[in-house]
Amino acid sequence: MPLFGKKEETKVDFSRLPRHVAIIMDGNGRWAKSRGLPRTAGHAAGAETFRTIATYCREIGIEYLTVYAFSTENWKRPAEEVSAIMGLLKKYLLEAIADMEKQKVRFCFFGDMTPLPAELQKLCRETQDRSAKFEGCQVNICLNYGGRDEIVRAARAFAADCMAGATEPEALTEEKFGDYLWSAGVPDPDLVIRPSGEERISNFLLWQSAYAEFYFTDVNWPDFGKEELRKALAAYQGRSRRFGGV
Ligand code: FPP
Repeated sequence: MPLFGKKEETKVDFSRLPRHVAIIMDGNGRWAKSRGLPRTAGHAAGAETFRTIATYCREIGIEYLTVYAFSTENWKRPAEEVSAIMGLLKKYLLEAIADMEKQKVRFCFFGDMTPLPAELQKLCRETQDRSAKFEGCQVNICLNYGGRDEIVRAARAFAADCMAGATEPEALTEEKFGDYLWSAGVPDPDLVIRPSGEERISNFLLWQSAYAEFYFTDVNWPDFGKEELRKALAAYQGRSRRFGGV
């Protein structure tokens, strides 16, 4: 194979990877528009990118990957676009179930599933239950998820436990509060990636990303390949994490 013209891969120290990477999969619409395609084509390309990145994360040994697939605010989009995203999720989950024994990926869903189409809810439950035994890599898919909504629900659930006499306000610690979130048992994200040139959190993992490192890039999500992830990992490895200390 001639090496001429071959671009060098960004160097990553694979022995110092973040345990948990979280991604806001943004820029599908702009990617499609720039090609004169409908927005739904951008989501289809984004779903393929998700597959590539999730597979790569498993291969290199990232323990947790969390992606923002559909926010509590995304219902404001045209019905046709919402239903295309739901359709892509269904297709992906059906394929993931078929592939599960091989991939050994544990799937979890963060968010209130109840407003989703019944068939998709069932599929999410089945995927979560059937993959619970796998220990390779955990992929958390945020669906109908909002960070503020998650915190409000947790506060409500804690208050209900207090009313029921199961606990009391003084017993609440940051750690205990975490047990009421969708992400209970999952370590906080070390690295949050947002492609597409936007530099905001958009209600994603508000509680959990308190000490996360952020990585932004202009590349749209459908163009975010393995090399883009390596760049993000290399940037992360160049940061000094002090968690409020010196
Ligand atoms: C944001 O791009 C993307 C979404 C709201 C949907 C993400 C969904 C997928 C990638 C497909 C299904 C997911 C899985 C896990 C299989 P945007 O539409 O806001 O882009 P724009 O800002 O350029 O308009």
